Amino acid sequence: MLHHAPVALRLVPSLGILLMTLGFPPDLPADEALLAQGERVFRNQCRGCHSLTPGMHIAGPSLHGVVGRNAGEVADFEYSRALQGAQLVWTPEVLDRFLADPDALLPGTRMVFWGLPEDARRPLIDYLRNVGEQ
Ligand code: HEC
Repeated sequence: MLHHAPVALRLVPSLGILLMTLGFPPDLPADEALLAQGERVFRNQCRGCHSLTPGMHIAGPSLHGVVGRNAGEVADFEYSRALQGAQLVWTPEVLDRFLADPDALLPGTRMVFWGLPEDARRPLIDYLRNVGEQ
């Protein structure tokens, strides 16, 4: 039976390379890959309710330039009382807490959202910041 072991060992390195290739497109620098991941999270989790076009609101307000702006500040959007009364700036740290559990940070918010895991929040927030700078 022992003579099978070397075969298995020879398979391990090529499996590692295959997994790396699937996970990280080798032609993209790391931060581009992160932004692409953030864009994907936005498309799947946010775009149904938020646009990134200034002034275009869906169920939620436009998120154009949201990183660094005051909470509840979009002039022509009707926020809940929770958002209107929030004395918050959407820094990456505050956004991170909100997206982990919106109702825990702002009880009574109308944003019905179950929260994102950490590995989705980081690329998403980077992506939102990047879009705001364009
Ligand atoms: C089901 C619809 C829905 C989804 C999905 C959703 N949102 Fe919201 N969002 C809202 C609504 C509605 C508000 C306004 C909440 C209020 O007034 O209490 C809001 C508010 C916000 C705000 C505060 C904006 C401001 O101007 O203060 C941020 C930031 C935000 N959402 C980010 C996100 C992100 C990022 C995602 C994706 C991970 C997301 N939302 C997914 C509906 C949604």
